[in-house]
Amino acid sequence: MKRSRRLPRHHLSEGGKTPPKLSDLFPSEPRGAAGQAIRTDPRQREGAGKMTSSENIDKTAVLGILRLGFGCAPAAFTEAGVELGLFDAMTEEPVHANELATAVKADPDALKRLLRALAFTGVVERVGPDLYAHTPLSRQLRTDVPGDNGYLIRWGMTRVMNEIMRYTAETVRKGSTLFEEVFGKPFYDYLSQDDIEAGNIFNRAMIGNSGRVSSDIVGKLDLAHAQTLVEIGGGRGRLIKEILEENPHLRGVLLDLEYVLDDVLTELRPGGALAPRARLVPGDARKSVDVKGDVYILKNVLHMWDDQTVVDTLRNVAEAAGPNAPIYVIDVVLETGGETDDASSYMDMLMLLIMDAKERSIGEWTSLFDQAGLDIVSQTRLSDGHLTMLEGRAR
Ligand SMILES: C[S@@+](CC[C@H](N)C(=O)[O-])C[C@H]1O[C@@H](n2cnc3c(N)ncnc32)[C@H](O)[C@@H]1O
Repeated sequence: MKRSRRLPRHHLSEGGKTPPKLSDLFPSEPRGAAGQAIRTDPRQREGAGKMTSSENIDKTAVLGILRLGFGCAPAAFTEAGVELGLFDAMTEEPVHANELATAVKADPDALKRLLRALAFTGVVERVGPDLYAHTPLSRQLRTDVPGDNGYLIRWGMTRVMNEIMRYTAETVRKGSTLFEEVFGKPFYDYLSQDDIEAGNIFNRAMIGNSGRVSSDIVGKLDLAHAQTLVEIGGGRGRLIKEILEENPHLRGVLLDLEYVLDDVLTELRPGGALAPRARLVPGDARKSVDVKGDVYILKNVLHMWDDQTVVDTLRNVAEAAGPNAPIYVIDVVLETGGETDDASSYMDMLMLLIMDAKERSIGEWTSLFDQAGLDIVSQTRLSDGHLTMLEGRAR
């Protein structure tokens, strides 16, 4: 793997710098590891600067700091559970840690310790001495649940994600991504050329992403009169597969990067059940979209790019689509102009870190569509409460 120069990391106490004091770390409204505000007793907050004895210590805030200090632990432990097959081994009834250790071939004592940590994190529930039950979270991490959610956890734990997150302070100082400086090339080039294993984990994580909303999208699209649907950046084809299965009269074109199409779902590959109606087109939508269709879809693609790339890509799609074909962009639309601090704020920061991309408000989307010669003619919130389907038409 090629690596470029290592950047200085001023936020660490390296090179003789003084480490931050605990008092510096206390924000006025401390946040939990999951980002939720930790409410503290206002009297304690007022007196926080004068704390002298251990009785006055705000234990909730200290716990919050501990959780943040070991913030990577919940994800690492959950990933370990996924890798061990722990959540698949759990049954409907509470199960003893020793039984689980046998099922997943782990050291019984170490597994008990992992289960305790997972219970503290809320991934499993401890219902008796060494007795553990599923929670909604652990159920979602089973491999028999649609969504490949385990891959999302694994993606967050990849070396590429962990490494780039270490440059958050530098990125915020600079105001743009350091991905190329750190990894030697842009995000997608790196995933497709230098770290294909991480690339495959990313593509599988994205499958889960699509799986959660695909039936909702299929239900909302009126494809009765369409002949060819084009999905741009459809990844391994989870959404287009479902669309083609639900619409037997329809043909589909999946345009994505070549390395992604090499790993497309079996149904869409030559010889697969949908292959006669599916065409795989390797390409770069930022440069051109040379595919004719009656409907175009870009789901979770544009938020991965900076404004100019979004405009260039939308313009390419608009040229291919002409004025009669709807262009559906399915992405986050930030409420209240992006001032909310919901989960989208995490995704927004990750987008900045990896590729100068961002989550956008409806005002920002409207401006980008407009610059590409498109009008937004409808917007529909999807059932996951997170994504919105924007319908654009070329003028
Ligand atoms: C965040 S993923 C979303 C995948 C899928 N649409 C979903 O919602 O799960 C972004 C997709 O855009 C593809 N992509 C990236 N750069 C591209 C380009 N220049 N042209 C076409 N597709 C691209 C990626 O390979 C990936 O499949």
